Amino acid sequence: MIRYLYFGDVFGRPGREAVEVAVDRFRKSHNPDVMIANVENAAHGKGVTPRMVEEFLSWGFDVLTTGNHAWDQGEIIDTFRNEPRLLRPLNYGDKSGMYTPGSGVVVIEPKSKPGLKVAVLLAMGRVFMDPLDCPFHCTNAEVEELLGQGINNIFIDFHGEASSEKQAFTYFFEGRATAVVGSHQHVQTADERILPGGTAAITDVGMCGVWDSVIGVKKENSIRRFLSKMPQRFEPAEGPAGYGAIVIDADETTGRAIKIERFRNWV
Ligand SMILES: [Fe+2]
Ligand SMILES: [Fe+2]
Repeated sequence: MIRYLYFGDVFGRPGREAVEVAVDRFRKSHNPDVMIANVENAAHGKGVTPRMVEEFLSWGFDVLTTGNHAWDQGEIIDTFRNEPRLLRPLNYGDKSGMYTPGSGVVVIEPKSKPGLKVAVLLAMGRVFMDPLDCPFHCTNAEVEELLGQGINNIFIDFHGEASSEKQAFTYFFEGRATAVVGSHQHVQTADERILPGGTAAITDVGMCGVWDSVIGVKKENSIRRFLSKMPQRFEPAEGPAGYGAIVIDADETTGRAIKIERFRNWV
């Protein structure tokens, strides 16, 4: 059995602090083999810095995913080139990484499972988002390549706005991916399930950060923007924080998911 722990979009300092506390607890309670976090909002809501990437890795994370906010911190560009465990969406037009640094796919060997290859993928939706290359076709090509190499432990973060696109994507990979978990919406959905084909799924894992906010941002900033229709300075909300996380168990010989457990807790 292999156990995955995944945290949804980590937002600002409150989100990072919540995850630091939660990781410690999960280690004791669940002893995960693979730990993943979506860190696209870790730096004050916008992107992630190299120092934060180092910090997350030092807490034991195996892979860090991002999304539309991947590039918000200019200093992170080199980290995308040099740190394969930091992913950007795979469906940018440039797979070579020459124009768009980094990769959306990484194959790791968990410390607790020597010799076992686990692939983590990140793709981004196109509904109400930037029109990247088709996430369905791009991810399909990557998944087929991995399966062709005998890698059947495949964990996909699908970063999208529309639940319809996310659910269609999930069913498309039913029976081929161990897990398809959603990020980007910042609000957790209660639809975690194991599909009959053996794929664990949830439309969105939700945010790690201050929930008394508008998707992590101070309420006043957001309300003013809607009232004025003018650009506003967005500040991360402050106050008690929580985390959205998911634990997935799978049979590592078949890559089929066995169990999925959803968490939405204050720290
Ligand atoms: Fe986000
Ligand atoms: Fe996002």
